[in-house]
Amino acid sequence: MAAKRRFRTVKGMHDLLFGKAGAFAFVEEKAREVFSLYGYDEVRTPVVEETELFVRGVGEASEIVGKQMYTFDDKKGRSLTLRPEGTAPVARAYLQNNWASGPQPVKVFYMGPYFRYERPQEGRYRQFHQIGAELIGDPGPYSDVELLVMLLRFLGELGFEDLEVGLNSVGDAECRQRYSQYLREFLEPYRDDLGADSRRRLETNPLRILDTKAPRERELLEGAPRLRDELGGPARDHFQVVCDELGRFGVDFEIDDRLVRGLDYYTRTVFEITSTALGAQNAILGGGRYDGLIADLGGPSVPGIGFAIGQDRLVDLVLKIPGARKRLNAEAHRRRPVCVIPIGGSYRRHGMELAQELRAAGIPAICEFDSLRPLKARLKQAARHDCQWVVLFGEEEEKSQEVVLRNFYEGSQETIPRDGFAAAVAARISA
Ligand code: HAM
Repeated sequence: MAAKRRFRTVKGMHDLLFGKAGAFAFVEEKAREVFSLYGYDEVRTPVVEETELFVRGVGEASEIVGKQMYTFDDKKGRSLTLRPEGTAPVARAYLQNNWASGPQPVKVFYMGPYFRYERPQEGRYRQFHQIGAELIGDPGPYSDVELLVMLLRFLGELGFEDLEVGLNSVGDAECRQRYSQYLREFLEPYRDDLGADSRRRLETNPLRILDTKAPRERELLEGAPRLRDELGGPARDHFQVVCDELGRFGVDFEIDDRLVRGLDYYTRTVFEITSTALGAQNAILGGGRYDGLIADLGGPSVPGIGFAIGQDRLVDLVLKIPGARKRLNAEAHRRRPVCVIPIGGSYRRHGMELAQELRAAGIPAICEFDSLRPLKARLKQAARHDCQWVVLFGEEEEKSQEVVLRNFYEGSQETIPRDGFAAAVAARISA
């Protein structure tokens, strides 16, 4: 008989285990704390949506829709897609639930898994995670400023000090169309110098050529017209206020003329944040305005702005910040369970009761029930669980109505009264 095959995670997808999962929870809690200070509420949309939502929302010419979607037909032949991003689903929820009839703007945040069929590499996965926020219903520049200030507060609280904020305006649809035409005319004579991707983009979306990494193309673009010079009056004024006010609220940023973002719904303000000092080349997050998205999805003309943080990248970076790791370790340590070891088969119920009392007092506890194993082996188990405290209870302790409390880290042991023992353990843990 053939050996049974062992299963592994699908390429580009990873288990988030123990410390990593703890770090994920840590940044999620911080996000909840900070975003709610700014009046944002959490929402969760389904992982699967109609394919058409992303085709219309993110844009047919985008890399995401063109190449990266996990799309399949369900049993009724409906085309469905594992969400590659969170903005189009939130816009769908805005329309479906008639949020327009409630107080405006609507401010929501979300977190969860997203899927893109990309070539996996460091910091790029096929299942990845985002923490995002969207503010829908205010066209004004102060919403842009407030959103960025909130974002930087969140990153600051995680311990980031070396952030680079890149900012640009991609203007309104008309400025972009005009500019795309200029750019096309400018690049047309150099068509043969362009790579295959850029040649294709020359037809579909010339703007995306601006963020090319190819040295020859970058050189060519030095002489190209600037999108910023083509902004219409309202878009220019909007960008000016955003820049001025960001400065006033202490946000350091750089205007990056080449920043255009890879999703087609953006209008006006766009931004990305990187953390170079920690050795990351990839953006930790990206975002911007999408004043035409809700109308593109068949709704009224409602503006919006938002961002999404790549949580996997964020966590990898957080784990490199010495202060943040220390906080995380301290937190993990505080949650290490107390191990209760009943000595002898007839004391298993007592063990369970003691563990329950600890839990009732808010102390994590595990019980080593396997009383047939020698005590030494069970103590070893407790050590492998990294328990600092072990509670021992057997015949002698039942007689004296006491428990033995062992401090593994210090190698000491004491006997304390059975009655109220959980409070005594709590006092020692927090001492
Ligand atoms: P995005 O730039 O496509 O924007 O993704 C945001 C962030 O998600 C990226 O900066 C990156 O950190 C992370 N990310 C994207 N793809 C991957 C991947 N394959 N592996 C690991 N991390 C990845 C959006 O998704 C927009 N919905 C953001 C937004 C919200 N704009 C307005 N509102």
